[in-house]
Amino acid sequence: MILQMAEKLGALQELLAEMDTRRAKVVGGGGPERIKKQHQGGKMTARERLEVLLDADSFLELSTFVQHQGGKLMNGVDAPGDGVVTGRGTIAGRQVFVFSQDFTVLGGSLGKMNAQKVAQVMDLAAKTGCPIIGLNDSAGARIQEGVDSLSGYGEIFYRNAIYSGSVPQISAILGPCAGGAVYSPALTDFIVMARGSSYMFITGPEVIKSVTREEVTFDELGGADVHTQKSGVAHLERDSDSEVLETIRELLAFLPQNAKEKPPMLPTTDPSNRSNPKLLEIVSPDTKRPYNMLEVIRELIDDHHFLEIQPDFAKNIICGFARMGGRSVGIVANNPRQMAGTLTIDASDKAARFIRTCDCYNIPMVTLVDVTGFLPGVAQEHAGIIRHGAKMLYAYAEATVPKITLIVRKSYGGAYLAMNSRDMGADVVLAWPTAAVAVMGADGAANIVYRREIMQSENPEATRAQKIAEYKAAFENPYVAASKGYIDDVIAPEDSRRILIQALEMLALKEETRPYKKHGNIPL
Ligand code: HXC
Repeated sequence: MILQMAEKLGALQELLAEMDTRRAKVVGGGGPERIKKQHQGGKMTARERLEVLLDADSFLELSTFVQHQGGKLMNGVDAPGDGVVTGRGTIAGRQVFVFSQDFTVLGGSLGKMNAQKVAQVMDLAAKTGCPIIGLNDSAGARIQEGVDSLSGYGEIFYRNAIYSGSVPQISAILGPCAGGAVYSPALTDFIVMARGSSYMFITGPEVIKSVTREEVTFDELGGADVHTQKSGVAHLERDSDSEVLETIRELLAFLPQNAKEKPPMLPTTDPSNRSNPKLLEIVSPDTKRPYNMLEVIRELIDDHHFLEIQPDFAKNIICGFARMGGRSVGIVANNPRQMAGTLTIDASDKAARFIRTCDCYNIPMVTLVDVTGFLPGVAQEHAGIIRHGAKMLYAYAEATVPKITLIVRKSYGGAYLAMNSRDMGADVVLAWPTAAVAVMGADGAANIVYRREIMQSENPEATRAQKIAEYKAAFENPYVAASKGYIDDVIAPEDSRRILIQALEMLALKEETRPYKKHGNIPL
């Protein structure tokens, strides 16, 4: 009897030892040499990244022992974990699903089983209503697995699309991301790139050289600077893997778990009724004096903490997350410091996308307005400012989250509507006494309306000046719009934080339903 027990125990020990050996093999990834190379490139391994991203000891790995299923070119190839680590963990106590591509295993290339692991955590994220975070570091489609690897990407793209707007999807780019593979991150809500060690492109430098004879490096073609400053593909860049991962933790705090929930409230010691006298110094009533709208935003929000999204792309419009009275808010604001805050194609795309992101995830919106209009110019017209500007109108009208607009100075013409006026669905519209709501600026308006009078007068310049002054007196103020109910109240700048927070509280339980449709048809 004792002998039998000992035999059983011995057998169990053997089984446990085998399990440990197998697990150690998987955890070891591509082995010490390749891990060393990864570190020499300034990059963390797939598992080290998960340690930084997730709360301590919260990671539960799934499909740990999955291996590739062979195929002619894969026979005898060892690929621990098949090049990706997948599972669940928590961030600030909230559950998230993750996949972390392991570049030390076949360059993190994506084959059938690798894709199956990724698809599994995406499905679990959708079923349990949790965010999914992808850490991308991959040489792309696994060449040896041919069409199976393309199909694997298809499985992931499909899920990216159908889960879009249902659970938050965040992509970190921490190494190569090339070919069609870029479209998985591109289908997610946010892309955060590591400067210097990551890149994204459809066709690489070699192919480009052979087709167009252009010579370009990986970084010049698709590095983090390119995608955060020129293309607008990525939302944020950071200097290292760990900073990217910290930023994802920060970003997630503004988002709910899924589209049915609201973002978490975060208590703050910053008083809701904090007065903002500094705003009077930042914004001059002289409409020709530019100022940095970022300073206005920071003055209004809890603890001055602002996570700007796409800060280096289309700087004429500012988008980002903050908290007001503990509540997560999405802020859209013109920045008169850049291109006089005019709306351009890129600004419209950036804002429209951000507005829709806020609306997906029940994040109330605060819009700060100081805009003279859409940027005039042949280039903008020919590149489709009509189509792109329409996205902003569409996005604001479509959004059912609480929408509050504060007109700081100018609000002219089509841009008045594109920046969420009352008619476009703003729930509350406020204005400072410095606000001017009109079809256009006084100079242009006087020249058009009184052209004949000015031309026929004995002293055209004096008449022009007089007409401009008359127009300014009549229209360049908030009171005409307020008298017609387009503005709810004209407020002192120093009371702005208190009143905005009151309005957010008022709208906290807002619900709005729209007519049945399959889905809207936003101009793309
Ligand atoms: C399988 C691959 C691989 C791939 C690299 N490896 N790319 N294995 N499929 N696509 C392997 C290498 O053989 C090597 O294995 C290891 O990964 C690391 O690769 P290195 O070349 O040594 O690394 P590095 O010098 O850092 O260069 C990284 C790289 C380069 C620039 C990404 O590997 C590269 O150009 N790979 C090909 C990229 C590519 O063309 N992918 C297909 C894109 S098209 P060992 O055993 O030596 O460590 C695509 C279509 C997707 O993705 C379509 C979706 C719809």
